[in-house]
Amino acid sequence: MALWSGRFTEGADAFTQRFGASLPVDQRLYAEDIAGSTAHAAMLADQGVISQDDAAAIAEGLAGIKADIESGVLIFDVQQSEDIHMAIESELTARIGDAGARLHTGRSRNDQVATDTRLYAKRRASELMDANVALREALIAQAEANFEVILPGYTHLQHAQPVLFSHHMLAYVQMLARDYDRLAAARDAADACPLGAAALAGTTYPLDRFATASALGFSRPIPNSLDAVSDRDFLLDLIYACSVSCLHLSRLCEEIVLWSSAEFGFITLSDAYSTGSSIMPQKKNPDFAELIRGKSGRVVGDLVALMMTLKSLPLAYNKDLQEDKEGAMDAADTLKDCYRCAAGMIATMTVNADAMAAQAKKGYLAATDVADYLAKKGLPFRRAHEVVGRLVLKCEQQGCDLEDLTPADFQAESDLFEADIVECLNLPAIVAARATYGGTGHDAVRSQLENAKALAAQHQPR
Ligand code: ARG
Repeated sequence: MALWSGRFTEGADAFTQRFGASLPVDQRLYAEDIAGSTAHAAMLADQGVISQDDAAAIAEGLAGIKADIESGVLIFDVQQSEDIHMAIESELTARIGDAGARLHTGRSRNDQVATDTRLYAKRRASELMDANVALREALIAQAEANFEVILPGYTHLQHAQPVLFSHHMLAYVQMLARDYDRLAAARDAADACPLGAAALAGTTYPLDRFATASALGFSRPIPNSLDAVSDRDFLLDLIYACSVSCLHLSRLCEEIVLWSSAEFGFITLSDAYSTGSSIMPQKKNPDFAELIRGKSGRVVGDLVALMMTLKSLPLAYNKDLQEDKEGAMDAADTLKDCYRCAAGMIATMTVNADAMAAQAKKGYLAATDVADYLAKKGLPFRRAHEVVGRLVLKCEQQGCDLEDLTPADFQAESDLFEADIVECLNLPAIVAARATYGGTGHDAVRSQLENAKALAAQHQPR
């Protein structure tokens, strides 16, 4: 019989018992549940609500249950207990008797589950932050190892201007550093303790909510008991942070898929991060990049699902809220695996500098610089743009590149061109000239790289 069965005359049938149960999902909260109960019992004793002997028996009993869960001796059954809170409390009372039956004094599963879930969200956010730093370091290492490599920068997926490969990698490092901040913000949102809100209205016992909050490592108790048991914004924040980071990974992985194709050949993935085909012996597929790209869909789905569950819910606790955990766990699990997989894939890929350089020579990547050359000699930029447009047309007609034009070809379009125009066609010089803060110039990228390294070091787990 359930712990709440006093006013019932019939037991639940096996189907509704299973349908209503959250144990298969929330058993992952066992450590948080035991921590919350231990802190609650110690506070009850300090406030004189239960005896210190009872609190000691509860703490010892819970420690034994924790050890038995972790060694695999204790396995809970969904037909016996609907959730992890009931499962642990029933087991405790079976082991220590009345002291166990006093644990739930001044508490409800409503504040209990909210406390467990917040502790869990804080833990997962921290783990994700660490995994985020590891991926940033892999990208930074590739940027550093291939610092001078030039590839075509694209807009509209058309050749635009040459950029440093390191600059391209560091763009992803910037995205991921923002994701780190979003995860940290989600962790802060979870960092407030609902325990002591009881079912919805607080309790008649003289609980010290500040004591339990601080014993559990929360920075504060939640100031409103109704809000404490019904707020799941912190999970939305966590899943949102996961979703945005997954979107960033999907963009990175899309480029990895493109770059590892025969058409680009910019990178070669290691065998460990590639798969073969069951029919085509020659194939080497970027499956893992594709999978990471694809998994972003399910994580965004987790976010939308919880938003819809929360929509229109009246105060305070409603059983709908039991649907909150599965998607949040999935989002955190998925992002953590994606970070790990992406870090390994990036760390072990080979950068094909020659293939990148060969492409960077195509597509008139110097055109903007040739126009700037004229503009710096006094021709209004719009006019310069037209002149270079005509030069590009000439190249198209002759099937050549700007590099192949003679000084006379240039001078035919404008007498401002002099012999030094050829210097404008040199890719490293074009890159170096973009020396503005945040630009792809070597010095600007070098300082960006140093800053990214310093920030990653500062974000290291201590
Ligand atoms: N398993 C429940 C959940 O995850 C715990 C809270 C149940 N509270 C209640 N009043 N039925 O939300």
